[in-house]
Amino acid sequence: MSVGSRYLPPRRPLPEFDPAGLDLADPYPVYHRYRAAGPVHPVRHPGPGAGPTSWYVFGYAEVARTLARREFGRANPATGRAAAPPPGYPVLRQVVENWLVFLDPPRHTRLRTLVSPALGAGPVAALGPRIQRIARQLVAPLADRPPGEPVDLVAEFAAPLPLLVIAGVLGIPEELHGWFRDRALVLQRAGSTRGDRDAAGTTAVERAAERAADELTVFFRRELAARRGAGRDRGDLLSALVRAADERTSLTPEEQSATCVPLLTAGHETTTGLLGKAALALLHRPELRAVLRADPALLPGAVDEFLRRDPPVQMITRWAHRDTLLAGHPVRRGDRLVLVLGAANRDPERFPDPDRLDVRREHVRHCAFGLGVHYCAGAGLARAEAEAGLAALLDGLPALAPGARPAVEVRYAPDWVFHGPERLTVVA
Ligand code: HEM
Repeated sequence: MSVGSRYLPPRRPLPEFDPAGLDLADPYPVYHRYRAAGPVHPVRHPGPGAGPTSWYVFGYAEVARTLARREFGRANPATGRAAAPPPGYPVLRQVVENWLVFLDPPRHTRLRTLVSPALGAGPVAALGPRIQRIARQLVAPLADRPPGEPVDLVAEFAAPLPLLVIAGVLGIPEELHGWFRDRALVLQRAGSTRGDRDAAGTTAVERAAERAADELTVFFRRELAARRGAGRDRGDLLSALVRAADERTSLTPEEQSATCVPLLTAGHETTTGLLGKAALALLHRPELRAVLRADPALLPGAVDEFLRRDPPVQMITRWAHRDTLLAGHPVRRGDRLVLVLGAANRDPERFPDPDRLDVRREHVRHCAFGLGVHYCAGAGLARAEAEAGLAALLDGLPALAPGARPAVEVRYAPDWVFHGPERLTVVA
């Protein structure tokens, strides 16, 4: 690619890119500034664990190339691991080492074969009515709220919806849902970009995550054992895991339970982010609410457009496994690459007029669910949840009623992996 033809040098040199300086509610102007100067930007001396250089990747073509090519992978070649909690966290380590999003082929392929059939098109279609029922049940009490009383759409809708769905998929009894959400949040925090390190180099977050991973592992091990054996299939994901493990793989019970634990976080905070951001976009756009209400067939395209324009996972990481070139830059084995999905999804080379929210946009092959071998295994489920959730909100939430001018207050979580409002208060 000719860098000169697409990219203009900025009038003043740009400082090294630092996500800490971004506006949580709107990082896109800064992304545009860097991408306009070039699709890939180095950061020298990026800190512990990384090679001498890290690269931030802003261009769609370069993100897609990094996710497709064998020169890049999940494991840091210096350690053989994608991420590792510091020593002293054995359960957390076991979960991380068995979690497919952190693995490279061939082990990744083996575990993915186990999980993906249970999240495929057939099972998701079968879940449709249940997801719609959950969405309507969550919105109904919000519709009865006296006028003027605030509703937190994250706490009361966007967070419980995916939790109730994934808990049902995993076969977790209803009385344990609160217990699960608490532990899922603790684990998510340990896998995110939030800090909290103390002087000893360990973190309160990791200590809590170790405890949560231990409790969840014990729970899943017991539940998996209860489904093993003739006539004990309960038709949930845990039963499917047991069946697939018996038929196709030689997975140990440890590997199976370690596979279940991160599904809770992968299937939860991401969709909460999508629902929160989509609701926010609708709250500010009465004309779009009218369009979607008049033609619900536009909802699937709208969900993809919400995902493209403001993805719930803003950044993902890869490591260079060989010396190579990316957009003309010499990338060395052991360098870390941060793929800025939020920037790639607004690359004007790929998406004309990229800042515009256009629910009729065609050929939206965005990268909000990643691309390549790690493409989100739960994408179909997430889309089904978002479509059902937004339909229920448009139908029942007074703040989204035609002509409503709701007062909106939003607070974002300081996190670029799981990005989205942690509080979204509306008053109709
Ligand atoms: C809007 C919601 C969601 C978004 C934006 C999202 C995003 C992503 C992204 C970007 C990846 C790739 C990460 C990488 O390549 O480093 C991924 C992987 C994954 N996601 Fe999702 N996700 C969502 C919902 C879900 C749900 C509902 C589930 C399951 C219940 C799920 C399960 C997974 C799994 C298992 C992987 C790992 C796939 C692999 O490594 O082969 N996700 N997701």
